[in-house]
Amino acid sequence: MQFDHLALYGDRIADIYDDLHRHMADVGAMVSVLAELAQGGRALELGVGTGRVALPLAGRGIEVHSIDVSEAMVAKFKAKPNADSVPVTVGNFREVAVEGRFSLIFVIFNTFFALLTQEDQVQCFRNVAEHLTDDGVFVIKAFVPDLSRFVRNQNADVTLIEADKLMISATNHDPVNQRVISQHVAITEETVKIYPVRLRYAWPSELDLMAQLAGMKLRERWSDWEGKPFAAASTAHISMYEKVRLPSTGLKVSGEAASTGHISAYERA
Ligand SMILES: C[S@@+](CC[C@H](N)C(=O)[O-])C[C@H]1O[C@@H](n2cnc3c(N)ncnc32)[C@H](O)[C@@H]1O
Repeated sequence: MQFDHLALYGDRIADIYDDLHRHMADVGAMVSVLAELAQGGRALELGVGTGRVALPLAGRGIEVHSIDVSEAMVAKFKAKPNADSVPVTVGNFREVAVEGRFSLIFVIFNTFFALLTQEDQVQCFRNVAEHLTDDGVFVIKAFVPDLSRFVRNQNADVTLIEADKLMISATNHDPVNQRVISQHVAITEETVKIYPVRLRYAWPSELDLMAQLAGMKLRERWSDWEGKPFAAASTAHISMYEKVRLPSTGLKVSGEAASTGHISAYERA
């Protein structure tokens, strides 16, 4: 089995994904915030998975599009009621290979970190900027890296104990490439299943710099979907990026132009 196969995580976990995350409490608040940020325009979710969030967002009357690389996750999504209302493009969201522009592009649940190199993450920011409307917003929800959880660059956690099931996760940390490689292991009396995950983490400050390279800037950063301010003790962040507006001209810089200083790629605001 190739660990670097892009769809590995989704293909392996699709069967249990919804069951595993059924207790997550913040979907309602998240959908309310995302619906407001879309301002009645089109929304795009990167790494849509089983449609856990895209479907309720579409249920609020928002036109939602989506991308995911795992056919197995998409099959679970497409088996749900009203799934036809949310088109899915199967592919790597690094490319943002969808038609048109969006008022809201979002990538939640640490999924941005599934891009395993800094180069891929920067390229994703650039492609997102190309697909945002002039007043659009790019939202990332992710964890704040906490290297103190590693001892000798390893970590083991008990993630679930039920009467008939145990889940543990074992992680190796590669500080040079800012990568973690994990196996989530589900043990029942009958079976042992393993679910691999690889991520390249980045601190909020690095994401802000990526935004700058793509001609965007931070609009706001919260620590939760209720809008609590981001602070030193925050373990997660919701970062909202918008395109940079040039004060003197009212023009907006996009993509390459922002990082190189060339102004040929300006778009009218
Ligand atoms: C943790 S799940 C999140 C799903 C959904 N956003 C949610 O919150 O429930 C991550 C999803 O991103 C997809 N994914 C990971 N890397 C991807 C990539 N480079 N391009 C497209 N999809 C990707 C996986 O297949 C999986 O469905």
